[in-house]
Amino acid sequence: MQIRFNDGTNYERFMGSWSQSAAKVFLDWLQPQAQAAWLDVGCGTGAFSSVVLDRCSPKSILGIDPSEDQVAYARARGLGPTAIFERGDAMKVRLPDHSVDIAVAALVLHFMPDPALGVREMTRVVRP
Ligand SMILES: C[S@@+](CC[C@H](N)C(=O)[O-])C[C@H]1O[C@@H](n2cnc3c(N)ncnc32)[C@H](O)[C@@H]1O
Repeated sequence: MQIRFNDGTNYERFMGSWSQSAAKVFLDWLQPQAQAAWLDVGCGTGAFSSVVLDRCSPKSILGIDPSEDQVAYARARGLGPTAIFERGDAMKVRLPDHSVDIAVAALVLHFMPDPALGVREMTRVVRP
């Protein structure tokens, strides 16, 4: 069965609170610094980004996802100017090398066509 991410409202209804629960556990473990520039790869409906905004005082978040519908939902959350959501692909991130502090792919790796390339892209854009 192929999973399609073309319905942000139903994704959020089905997965949103689970995704945010996982995000809280992950962020408790990560202990990220405040005022970081984040890249949220496969941001979907913005569930993970919303928890980062609530808990981590980010400087900026760029969320990318190939699904127009998921991105539209993320934008409609109204998370404010700190978070920008746009269509994008983990296989070719538009950012320059070493341009963010933290890159995450929450519940996304196994949906990437080439997970190793996705991780290389995340590594490329994160500052050493
Ligand atoms: C299970 S959802 C996770 C969404 C969100 N990160 C969360 O925590 O709720 C997986 C997401 O991966 C996205 N995705 C699939 N292929 C992708 C790719 N090549 N690059 C970036 N995101 C991708 C899907 O569109 C979907 O929104």
